Amino acid sequence: MQDYKEFIAETLINEKTLKRRIKELGKQISRDYANEDLLLICILRGGIVFMVDLMRHITVPHAVDCMALTSYGVGARESSGNIRMSLDLQTNIENKNVLLVEDIVDSGHTLTHVLEMLRTRHPKSLKVCALLDKEERREIPVPIDYRGFSIPNKFVFGYGLDLDEYYRNLPFIAVVDLKKYKHPA
Ligand code: IMP
Ligand code: MG
Repeated sequence: MQDYKEFIAETLINEKTLKRRIKELGKQISRDYANEDLLLICILRGGIVFMVDLMRHITVPHAVDCMALTSYGVGARESSGNIRMSLDLQTNIENKNVLLVEDIVDSGHTLTHVLEMLRTRHPKSLKVCALLDKEERREIPVPIDYRGFSIPNKFVFGYGLDLDEYYRNLPFIAVVDLKKYKHPA
């Protein structure tokens, strides 16, 4: 695999800015759910880094769970409307305050599908916390209750977001130069 330095176009959000914003989100969520029971649901795998940092800034007692989705159709960097749950929750969410934790909202298809699916399980409330919002790319409107950053229409990686499953560990959000990035064999 290439070193990310070979194909990074720019750092879009640095580590310090991410930390500051995530701390703010944690405070806001803690205020909004004061005296309420809370369940955070991480959408794997992109949301993991964000969720583990966010939860440490949430001061109200809460539980966590994870779910995974697979989307079929077009290329690996686009999601189609064709999304399937590949790993289900371990928790019964009926009558729970659920907060979904997502890395990025792009077309909106993934989130729309997840929200529809979870609503059938009758949670008490269902909200969305997304670190990144690529608004320009939206094909279906989706409600984002807590938004980290609005970003331009560029393909990003790092801080949970992958390029062909790698580079999720980087502590910042960067833009890829697709002319320099070599797709793994
Ligand atoms: P949507 O269904 O088009 O909103 O796609 C959302 C999913 O696509 C996210 O959960 C990411 O996994 C992936 N995605 C969208 N944009 C990017 C990006 O710039 N970098 C990495 N993954 C992305
Ligand atoms: Mg992804």
